[in-house]
Amino acid sequence: MFNEISPRYDFLNHFLSFGIDHIWRRKVVREIRRHFGNSLHSLNILDVATGTGDLALAVAGLQPAHIDGIDISTAMMEVARRKVQEKGLAQLISFREGEAERIPFSEDTYDVVMVAFGVRNFEDLKGGLNEMRRVMKPGGYMLILEFSHPDRFPMKPLYACYSKRMIPLLGKLISRHRQAYTYLPQTVAAFPDGEAFLFILRELGLQNLRQIRLSGGIATLYCAEK
Ligand SMILES: C[S@@+](CC[C@H](N)C(=O)[O-])C[C@H]1O[C@@H](n2cnc3c(N)ncnc32)[C@H](O)[C@@H]1O
Repeated sequence: MFNEISPRYDFLNHFLSFGIDHIWRRKVVREIRRHFGNSLHSLNILDVATGTGDLALAVAGLQPAHIDGIDISTAMMEVARRKVQEKGLAQLISFREGEAERIPFSEDTYDVVMVAFGVRNFEDLKGGLNEMRRVMKPGGYMLILEFSHPDRFPMKPLYACYSKRMIPLLGKLISRHRQAYTYLPQTVAAFPDGEAFLFILRELGLQNLRQIRLSGGIATLYCAEK
């Protein structure tokens, strides 16, 4: 599905979110800066389900040692590679085909392992999160940005209407893919958020868990340490 929508993915992302997705990714960048302070230049970072590379590119601004991105969709990563080449960042950011459930890197490799709007798509959520934990160095930082469920007025009814009606309609018209943008609100509704998601991270042995609700709960940034 992501291979098929890759040419229009970036446009639709920014259009359907009114550009707020950039603000959410910048929150991940700020959180890494806050956590690591002066040692940013030595960081090795892994972006899981990197897609078209927007999170990897956002984090490149921190000038870390290196960023790897993995994804199962070659077409999404083709777009990512083009963007990275255009920005002259090919030395800093590398992409490789790989599944979250079988990350093609050794254990204890990364200071930061992050994923934006990807965990919801994992075939095996706990398996993928456990793999992310495995490749993190002890003391490493995990950041997971994902859609969640707004639970207060007025965001709750507004978002319910927008995600169930407008996103499928506009997504179908622009992406020309019948299911992709119907699948999005359905998977968000079925996905654990808030305390339920933190419970899964805790079960995997991760520590110092935090959740930062964004835009009235439309998205949440989960942070954890190994
Ligand atoms: C909604 S996109 C998010 C892309 C990007 N992180 C962003 O913020 O725009 C989800 C991505 O997850 C990838 N994906 C889905 N399941 C995956 C898995 N099991 N392992 C790795 N990538 C996966 C898809 O190919 C797609 O590129």
